[in-house]
Amino acid sequence: MLWKKETGIILALDLPDQKSAFSIVEQVVDHVDLIKFNYPLVLKEGIQILKLTAERFNRPVFADFKIADVPVTNNRIIRLCREYGASAAMIHGFVGVDALLRAKRAAGDMKLFIATQLTNPGGADFFEPHWEKFAELARELGFAGVQAPGNRPEIVRRVRQIVGPELSIVSCGIGAQGGDYGAAIAAGANFEIIGRAIYQADDPTAKIRQIKQTINSSSGTI
Ligand code: XMP
Repeated sequence: MLWKKETGIILALDLPDQKSAFSIVEQVVDHVDLIKFNYPLVLKEGIQILKLTAERFNRPVFADFKIADVPVTNNRIIRLCREYGASAAMIHGFVGVDALLRAKRAAGDMKLFIATQLTNPGGADFFEPHWEKFAELARELGFAGVQAPGNRPEIVRRVRQIVGPELSIVSCGIGAQGGDYGAAIAAGANFEIIGRAIYQADDPTAKIRQIKQTINSSSGTI
C-alpha cells in the first residue's frame, strides 16, 4: 500500500484510552499522514482499535510494537497487525537475520520497519556498535524502511546514506524528546513521529499547524 505524504507528520497516538485518543485525532487528522500506535493504548482498548482508527479517519496506521522475540511469536504478532488493518509494523534488528527474514515473509504486503537506535540518552549504549548494521540489513533484506532517532540528525543522515533513496525513514524523538521540528526530514527522513508535543498542547490543532510550517516536507507517495 502506497502512503500519501503531505505533511511528513506521523501522529504518535499515545493517549490513555480510545475516547481521549479519538478526540485528539479529530482535532489534527487533516494535518497528519499516518497514525502510530504503541502498546499501552492497544493493551487497554484491544487490537481492533487499529482497524477502527484506519477506517474512521482514513489514515494508514503504524503498529510500533518494537517486536523482539523468537520468530514463532514475532510472526504471530505481525499477522495480527495485518489482520487488524495495520499498514506498517516495527521490529528490532537484534532478533537476528533468520528472524528478520521470517518476519518479512509474515508481513506480506504490510510494511516492516527495523529500529536502528532508541532516542533516549541510553539508547546509544548498546545499539552503538550495531545501528549501522541494522540499517544495512534493512536495505539488504528488502525491508520497507527503518526508524532513526530524530533528535540525532547526524545519525539520520548516516542512515539515509546506508539505506539509499528507496527505503523510508521514520524518525521519533521530535518535540518532547528534544529534536527540532523539521531537522530529521532535512537530514533525510521521510516522516517525523510526533506525540506529546501535539496531544499535550493546550490547542493541538494550533500546535500542529505551527509544526507544519516548520517542517519543510515534500509531498508525494511512498
Ligand atoms: P513522543 O511523545 O516522544 O512520542 O513524541 C514518540 C513515540 O515514538 C516512540 N518512540 C520511539 N520509537 N524508536 C522508535 O521506534 C525510538 O527511539 C523511539 N523513541 C520513542 C514512543 O514510544 C512514542 O510512541
